[in-house]
Amino acid sequence: MSTDRLKALREKKTEALLGGGTQRIDDQHTKGKLTARERISLLLDEGTFEEIGMLVTHRSTDFGLENQKYLGDGVITGHGKINGREVFVYSQDFTVFGGSLSEAHAEKICKIMDIAMKVGLPVIGLNDSGGARIQEGVVSLGGYADIFLRNTMASGVIPQISAIMGPCAGGAVYSPAITDFVFMVKDTSYMFVTGPNVVKTVTHEDVSFEDLGGALTHATKSGVAHFACESEVECIDRVKKLLSFLPSNNMDDAPVSTTNDSARRMDEKLNSIVPENPNKPYDMKDVLHAIVDDGDFFEVHEHYAENIIVGFARMDGRPVGVIANQPAVLAGVLDNDSSMKGARFVRFCDAFNIPLLVFEDVPGFLPGTAQEWGGIIKNGAKLLYAFCEATVPKITVITRKAYGGAYDVMNSKHIRGDINFGWPTAEIAVMGPKGAVEIIFKKEIEKAQNKDEAIQQKETEFREKFANPYIAAERGYLDDVIEPKETRPRIIRALQMLDTKVDHNPKKKHGNIPL
Ligand code: HXC
Repeated sequence: MSTDRLKALREKKTEALLGGGTQRIDDQHTKGKLTARERISLLLDEGTFEEIGMLVTHRSTDFGLENQKYLGDGVITGHGKINGREVFVYSQDFTVFGGSLSEAHAEKICKIMDIAMKVGLPVIGLNDSGGARIQEGVVSLGGYADIFLRNTMASGVIPQISAIMGPCAGGAVYSPAITDFVFMVKDTSYMFVTGPNVVKTVTHEDVSFEDLGGALTHATKSGVAHFACESEVECIDRVKKLLSFLPSNNMDDAPVSTTNDSARRMDEKLNSIVPENPNKPYDMKDVLHAIVDDGDFFEVHEHYAENIIVGFARMDGRPVGVIANQPAVLAGVLDNDSSMKGARFVRFCDAFNIPLLVFEDVPGFLPGTAQEWGGIIKNGAKLLYAFCEATVPKITVITRKAYGGAYDVMNSKHIRGDINFGWPTAEIAVMGPKGAVEIIFKKEIEKAQNKDEAIQQKETEFREKFANPYIAAERGYLDDVIEPKETRPRIIRALQMLDTKVDHNPKKKHGNIPL
């Protein structure tokens, strides 16, 4: 081959590597952001990236665009390996028209999504974009819709992860929103449907980019972001860690790893972790850390609806999805936000063959107009529905309270919990002792000389009769009452037994979860 031809090829590739040029790369760095290619290098195992579509350009001739063409057109797409496992990735290049989405840019993303679906591999999107390429008009909107459709078709088939590493505005937010997990970076990324200027015009509110749609806003208030990271490097590290718990597609099992943490390990401190006083809180995360492999719990949605804890861990090397009430926050009550948070996580795990491990200490659903008007009936029903329809192995450990509807909801035996354990401290009843005696002994208490004493006495009676795990165990609603210290080995044996579990729901197009 002539050296001219090779030279031409090499020149093109060198040009493509520069994206929008060195000045814009410097600007990106000045803003404290990495470039699209630097992000890919951090994400993928060294030397494994295979780029697809490096030489693609846009086809637009309006507004002088015919004279501004950049190889790759603002998005780098391809596949590579993360800890030896293949994934697809796209990384938007802010140095090219602000990473804005053109027809060609959208086609590149769609192309890798289509292959990812055929081969059954996750797609990771690194987003840094000014939204629709304004000069291309409706063609760009069409490009977004093409991506939304593919996100939806891929949902529940391959894991989809979005990392927001810059602006993400307008309808562009809806692709990440359909994906399974959204990561954001504090101070440099934001997501909103309309920016601060439009907000000011429409609602007269003065709000900054960060307050309206920054990482902390979405990780704490809206729940749109599952992770708020300190830096891009931390963000990419956490994406990799998340991926280590996930199968590559819905037909695969999650990857099993080896651990030095013994499957028979018991932890004496669990026997005294639940306080004697049932109204005293304790931190459910201490329970989780004592039970899972190496104390390693990867929390999802850490700062949102903290009264429920969700995240991934391993038990004897097998990934599990953990859902736990948190008695240290709002007494672990179920409310609108925690129900939705839990439901979405349960459905993700069920879609991807990840067993569910539930730790329960819940006083019930939160009363009040804010909750009722906020739709606690339909939102609580989401969590109930999610547990009911899940067919993966399902294990529950009731550590303390399991009251009212919340008892049913939190993966009870009745909704196909496979193995349900109670600790001796478990209290399973229609409601807490105080509320119960005030209703059923109302007349007696009214007649009593000393009302407080009467309530106290009835409460003690009620507590002795119902606030224990044995009535449920007698009925078989619990499979066993276990010493807290033996929880880890008992769960691991249950998971081993359930490894070949097959369960089906009736054939249907899809159910109608109360959205
Ligand atoms: C074309 C764009 C662009 C866009 C930015 N650029 N956004 N080009 N289409 N949407 C270009 C700029 O012209 C500039 O080009 C370069 O990218 C960097 O932009 P700056 O404004 O200099 O950067 P910065 O100050 O960091 O501000 C970033 C920004 C701002 C906040 C994203 O650019 C911005 O507000 N852009 C418009 C956002 C927007 O309204 N998008 C449409 C949303 S509607 P040069 O040549 O100077 O480097 C939408 C509909 C989707 O997306 C609907 C889907 C259903």
